[in-house]
Order: sequence, then C-alpha cells, then structure tokens
Amino acid sequence: MLADFYHRELRDLRISVTDRCNFRCTYCMPFDEYVWIDREKLLTFEEITRLTRLFVQLGVTKVRLTGGEPLLRSQLEGLITQLGEVPGLSDICLTTNASRLVEKATSLRAAGLSRINISLDTLDGEKFKRIAKRDKLSEVLAGIFAAKASGFKPIKINMVVERGVNDDEIISMIEFCREHELSLRFIEYMDVGNANTWSSSKIVSKKEILERISNFYPTQDGGREKASDPAVQYAFSDRRGDIGFIASVTEPFCTNCTRARLTADGKFVTCLFSNDGLDLKTILRGGATDEVVTELITSAWQKRSDRYSDERFEALNSSEGYDPRLQKKIEMITLGG
Ligand code: GTP
Ligand code: 5AD
Ligand code: SF4
Ligand code: SF4
Repeated sequence: MLADFYHRELRDLRISVTDRCNFRCTYCMPFDEYVWIDREKLLTFEEITRLTRLFVQLGVTKVRLTGGEPLLRSQLEGLITQLGEVPGLSDICLTTNASRLVEKATSLRAAGLSRINISLDTLDGEKFKRIAKRDKLSEVLAGIFAAKASGFKPIKINMVVERGVNDDEIISMIEFCREHELSLRFIEYMDVGNANTWSSSKIVSKKEILERISNFYPTQDGGREKASDPAVQYAFSDRRGDIGFIASVTEPFCTNCTRARLTADGKFVTCLFSNDGLDLKTILRGGATDEVVTELITSAWQKRSDRYSDERFEALNSSEGYDPRLQKKIEMITLGG
C-alpha cells in the first residue's frame, strides 16, 4: 500500500472540475473579478477519468468533485458516468453550493452520483447576500429540497461559522436541519487561500458551539465514522439526528489525512494549504505512459510530509503566534476545499 512520509495512505481524491463560481463567499473568494483558467487548460473528462483510474490502482476508493462550483462545468453528469466505470471506485461524491441543483439533481443521481454535500451558512436572505454576495438563498433552498426529492441521503450541510456574522444562527440551523433530516456540519473558519481576511478571533470553535447548544440540544460524542474523516460526529440525546464538526483549527486532524487533490488545471496537490503541485496535465499531454504517471504520483506521495493544520495549531499556541500570510497558498477555488 502506498504511504507517505508519516505512513498515511492515499485513499481519497478531491477533484476540482472548474475554478469558476457564481457566488463570492467572503471566506473563500471575496473578489469580484478573477482571471479564470483558460478552457483548454482544464483537464478533459477523459484525462480526469484516466488519472482517477491510476489513483484507484494506488489505493483511492473515494472521489469528491469540487470547484469553484462544480455544477458550472457543463455536462458534469458525463464525467460521473465515466468515473462510475472505473473498477474499484466505490464512492463518487459532490460538494456544491446547490444553486443549480433544481435542474441537476435528478440527472446527477441517474448518472451514478453517490452523495452530495451542500454549503449553507445562513437561513436569512439578507445575510446570505452579505456572505455570498449574491441574492440566491431561495434557489439554494430549492436545490437542497430537489436533492432530497431525488433520493440523495445523507445530504450534508456545511456551515462555515464566523463570529459576528452567522454564529447567531447555530440553533436555527440545527432546527432547520433536524426538521428536514439533513446532516449539519459546523466548520471552523480556516485561513484557506490568500484572499480572505481570516483571523483567529473570527473562529467559533467546536468547543464553544458545543457549550452554546448544550442547554437546548445535549449531544453525545460519536467520534469519526472513518479515522480519516475531517468531521467528528455528535448524536443528539433524543436520537433525532446528529451534527458534525470540522474543527481543523482547534482540533486538527492531519495525523490521519489520506486526502489528495487534483486542481482544475491538472495539478496533483498533497495538502489543502499547499503552495504548488505536480503538473500532471503537462505530463499527460506530453504523452507519458500510465506507468510513468503512476511512478510520478507514487514518488510525490511517498515524499509527502504535509501537516499544515497541526503546524498552525502549534504556532497558535506558541509565544510567537501564527501569521497566515507567511505561507502563500493555492486559492481555495483552484483547489476545491
Ligand atoms: P465527506 O466526509 O465525504 O462527507 O466530505 P468532506 O467533509 O471531506 O468534504 P467537504 O467538501 O464537504 O468539506 C467540508 C469541509 O472540510 C470544507 O471546509 C473543507 O475545506 C474541509 N476539509 C476537507 N478535507 C480537509 C482536509 O484534508 N484538511 C482540512 N484542513 N480541511 C478539510
Ligand atoms: N473555511 C472553512 N471552510 C471553507 N469553505 C470554503 N472556504 C472556507 C474557509 N475559509 C468550505 C465551503 C464548502 C467547502 C468545500 O469548503 O463552505 O462547503
Ligand atoms: Fe463558491 Fe463554494 Fe467558494 Fe462560496 S465557498 S465562493 S460557493 S466555491
Ligand atoms: Fe491533510 Fe493538509 Fe488538511 Fe492536514 S491541513 S488534514 S495534511 S489537507
């Protein structure tokens, strides 16, 4: 089995299919204008499928399609169908902002998509406009219900909690998700990319959220479903559903991280906070054989020693403190979270 410098296996692949997004979430891509990756520089569906086959031969069992907003890539269903034919791939998942799910949920399901995770930070239309810079809450909610109606289960809701912005909605989001049988995950605000204005004071930690909800919704720690999962699950004491926490700032989980990433323009990246990656697109388009590509992926993974969130945790708790600007990172929209 292929393992990195810290004996972590290669198990999950997050594939960004486009860097474009129709939202401008303040914590992710706050600028109005971006220079998008040229269309011819995007990996084709055939190239993505070929690489996925090689990654699966190296141990990957789960693929997650991300963006930007992955549903902006036309005919994404076609890619899902092709990935469904890769032997040994058991799980094809999608992380989306849901704005296009009303049109897409049924065809995604028919194409063989296994699961959907959806970003939703607020139930208040005005606040939605402030966070995503787009007036799209009703489309997103309709998209969530369309995904449910098409039979996706579980549907995970990702809420990035930012102090003073949406932390007053922790309870209302729990109530909404319980009512509609959605699986809510609270995400600690991270210093992804270089464009957001992250500071540790904006984080609402897992511990604080648990304390704040304990009088209304007592919970029991259920641990991680899989050791490598980012989320820790907590069951409500009345057994009506559960919530998850992705606490990469206050309880980092690099020790068990089995995730690799492929950018929309074909770079193989070994950490969410990396500065660069291995340019597989150029290697493929230069005519490399499967053996050569496999060898290059293997040696990059074997050298991998990334543990960015662990290091951030150590710095935050040291006398020097932590400065997110010290390391330049690939933007979240290129990397897909
Ligand atoms: P499942 O466990 O398959 O449901 O999905 P997931 O939680 O891995 O994926 P999703 O795209 O829903 O991501 C949820 C949040 O976790 C996002 O904020 C991601 O940026 C974050 N996340 C996912 N993987 C990692 C990781 O390896 N490191 C860090 N620090 N954050 C991650
Ligand atoms: N911190 C935490 N999560 C983030 N996401 C985007 N930017 C950040 C950030 N700065 C989340 C989105 C989406 C997932 C792919 O990443 O909410 O659900
Ligand atoms: Fe787009 Fe998702 Fe980033 Fe928001 S978090 S800007 S929806 S990619
Ligand atoms: Fe994995 Fe990097 Fe996230 Fe740590 S910070 S869990 S090594 S992707």
